[in-house]
Amino acid sequence: MTEKRAQFTTRLGVIATTVGSAVGLGNIWRFPFEAGVHGGGAFLLIDLFFIFIIGVPVVCAEFIIGRHTGLNVRGAFRALAPGKPWGIVGYLGLLASILILSFYSVVAGWTLEYIYQSLTGFGGISSVDGLHDRFDGFATSDWRPLMWTLIFLALNYIVLSRGVQKGIEKMSNIMMPLLFVILVVFCINSLRMPAAGEGLTFLFKPDFSKVTPSVMLGAMGQAFFSLSLGLGCLITYSSYFKKDTPLLKTAGIMASLDTLVAILAGVIIFPAVFTFGMEPAAGPKLVFEILPSIFMHLPGSMLWSTLFFILLFLASLSSTISMSEITIAYMTDEFGYSRRKATICNTAVAMVLGAVCALSFGALSGWTVCGLTVFNLFDYLSSNILLPVGGMIISIFVGWVLDKSIVRRELIGKDSGVRPWMVTVVVACLRYVAPACIGLVFIYGLGIF
Ligand code: TRP
Repeated sequence: MTEKRAQFTTRLGVIATTVGSAVGLGNIWRFPFEAGVHGGGAFLLIDLFFIFIIGVPVVCAEFIIGRHTGLNVRGAFRALAPGKPWGIVGYLGLLASILILSFYSVVAGWTLEYIYQSLTGFGGISSVDGLHDRFDGFATSDWRPLMWTLIFLALNYIVLSRGVQKGIEKMSNIMMPLLFVILVVFCINSLRMPAAGEGLTFLFKPDFSKVTPSVMLGAMGQAFFSLSLGLGCLITYSSYFKKDTPLLKTAGIMASLDTLVAILAGVIIFPAVFTFGMEPAAGPKLVFEILPSIFMHLPGSMLWSTLFFILLFLASLSSTISMSEITIAYMTDEFGYSRRKATICNTAVAMVLGAVCALSFGALSGWTVCGLTVFNLFDYLSSNILLPVGGMIISIFVGWVLDKSIVRRELIGKDSGVRPWMVTVVVACLRYVAPACIGLVFIYGLGIF
């Protein structure tokens, strides 16, 4: 990470920035569509298990490594285990972050298109079917999604290269609570829809007959993706934490807020899905087809819709900044690149891969690997494989290799309220529970046996 980046001065700043990285399209777009594809309630339950039982301890592990060393991913592992291969997490992180940035930018580009559509009243379309067709037409057309993807990456570039993250972070301190308020308003609206009961049953009532290995793998991937976990993003962020930032508490608050936003998104989407007679398993397009139909039924629809998509765009930007920072920090440290040059490299690769992802709904929809389009492949590979593998390595490292006195010192700190038994629980999770659960889900989910 850069010297330019200020240390977080307030506790609220720490929370706001980590939550800013965590909350994004992962909660509002990815969670509802994955839950829809994987049958709802049971998916949510497994997701919650992975967030709180596995995720929180692994978030702590990233925080411990980051704050103790005060370095980026590569430097941190080099300092803690010189000459050992643990730094491989850095390479995994590099690969995953660029894959995620590529497909993420396509969806962030959709939010830009929707800001434009909201301002122009969705071309006067007022029927639910018309709005769905309009999204389909847009996503499968070639140049518009491509154009928005490139524009989004250019905006990401401008923010990163000018080093104006601080401005963005300040802005997200205001925007995030606003996004939250808006989500609550939309929730209340959705709860009044005719098929609200059906939607809530789908989301909250676990049907264990639907739990297959691939549902478990999907839920694990969603948990890691949503927490920005497994590729060293949080190691980098926590290297800027102060010594008195309570790590366990910060991890807990971050996971709770992140989960809350995802659940709110689910409560907004599923009642509408059933009310408008849509298929919950519609995949990545689900949320973008449903939202305009929801807004259409609100008084002042254009205003709501514009405001919502601007906020969603900003939430995406604060997430892409956090994932880009990994590659940028890596290149500036490893190859001595200037920040500008590193940002150009990051953006150039993301633009090429992002273009392929953008076209994979249209012109390149025939390019598939194991039945997945490039867009879906990047998502699947990074979320379901690379992030959990990274998380597993990090948890084994902190659980087994890292000196326990460091773990204790970092977790207990100064008046963090953490008792010694809590440290024992976290360490036990990192040693046994997390590696075992991740390993088992892999073995079953990938059909290794
Ligand atoms: N967590 C973010 C979201 O839900 C995405 C994200 C940001 C991310 N940084 C990351 C995912 C690092 C994995 C790793 O939208």
